Amino acid sequence: MPDKNLIVAFGGISPEHEVSVLSAMQVMSSLEESSYTIIPLYITKSGRWLTGELLKDLSEYKDIKKLEESAVSCAFVKDDIGRTLLKEQDKGGLFSKPQAFPVYAVVCAFHGSEGENGAFQGVCEMFNVPYTGSGVLGSSVGMDKVKAKQLCEANNIPVTNSLDFYESDWEKHQDTILEEANLLGFPLVVKPATLGSSIGVRKVESQDDLIEAVETAFRYDAHLLVEEAIHPLMEINCSVLGTAENCRASVCERPLGSTETLSFEDKYQSGGSAEKGMASADRVIPADISAELTDTIRTMAVHIFKTFDAAGVARLDFLVNADTEQVFFNEINTIPGSFSFYLWDKSDLNFTQLMEELIQIGIQRHQAKNGRIRSYETNLLSEKAAKGIKGLKGIK
Ligand SMILES: Nc1ncnc2c1ncn2[C@@H]1O[C@H](COP(=O)(O)OP(=O)(O)O)[C@@H](O)[C@H]1O
Ligand SMILES: [Mg+2]
Repeated sequence: MPDKNLIVAFGGISPEHEVSVLSAMQVMSSLEESSYTIIPLYITKSGRWLTGELLKDLSEYKDIKKLEESAVSCAFVKDDIGRTLLKEQDKGGLFSKPQAFPVYAVVCAFHGSEGENGAFQGVCEMFNVPYTGSGVLGSSVGMDKVKAKQLCEANNIPVTNSLDFYESDWEKHQDTILEEANLLGFPLVVKPATLGSSIGVRKVESQDDLIEAVETAFRYDAHLLVEEAIHPLMEINCSVLGTAENCRASVCERPLGSTETLSFEDKYQSGGSAEKGMASADRVIPADISAELTDTIRTMAVHIFKTFDAAGVARLDFLVNADTEQVFFNEINTIPGSFSFYLWDKSDLNFTQLMEELIQIGIQRHQAKNGRIRSYETNLLSEKAAKGIKGLKGIK
């Protein structure tokens, strides 16, 4: 039986680069005893693809410059029988021949930006390799807070009232935008459309604050969302595992923030440790809410997962008005921190079992895709070639 080379892909050009390194370390250590041969694929902050055993060791990341020099550049290539390989590029040494590993499956352990927004998933599709998590569509819509809200609204999933605008709108029509914002009513929350980890997110109480927050947020994104703030706020998250055709919800969690708006520090730096990753952040699991509210949220989470055509594991984050218990969709995380394993080990799966299930889902989705007719034999090109370039007029 040939080696089942499991590529663990992580890092990337993303504000959540470091969080992704931690998630990947968890994945690799959880699968140490498995039947897979684990091959790291680390994408640096400048976008280089690197591989090598040393990338499995968290302590190596203390000196990134040295790590980049010692690791080996690599790329996906197709061999002459159509297999996809992760191929090392020239190692430089006389006795170290570059290796090439046929890809069994890819674990996408990125957070944010191109690793989570469908771009890397698109690379996997192009190379026709199985990969964990949502496909291109779910990943990309899930990453855009404005598009995600529009999709929810169209499917009767409650969202907060909001407005969105581009930088050019702000330059030309600031007064109109401020008027609309006043109509929504303060306090408001300003968010970049496509970022995560609370970067650029700010709750504002006045028009002056709003202008300042908008201008800061434009440093991160050209498209912004301004929405009504929920008050008093209770945040509840729930994870969903499976495919749009067959999925189930985990227990719910109630994350605790030191301030009302969860910050990057609340999420990752409040007593978190490398091995535990997100699990050690402050949270109540299962969430201390009524059985009725739990049910509403779990049902909604499954509905949203299906609506986004998500796959693998996703975490659905909700904003709840603590007085009225009104529930609003906040966001879908298609690659949640630590794969939200801490919600599954309270349900029925430990981290290793969760990873095994994610890999199996990726393989099934890949088989389903390849089991369909994907190309169609025609003699279009030979016909067109016979007619020459003029024959192309009016095509399509
Ligand atoms: N409409 C809102 N009302 C009150 N607080 C909010 C609202 N939207 C977001 N927040 C707070 O800001 C945090 C970050 O916003 P979120 O939309 O989750 O962005 P990110 O993708 O950066 O996590 C949330 O966890 C919550 O604490
Ligand atoms: Mg969030």
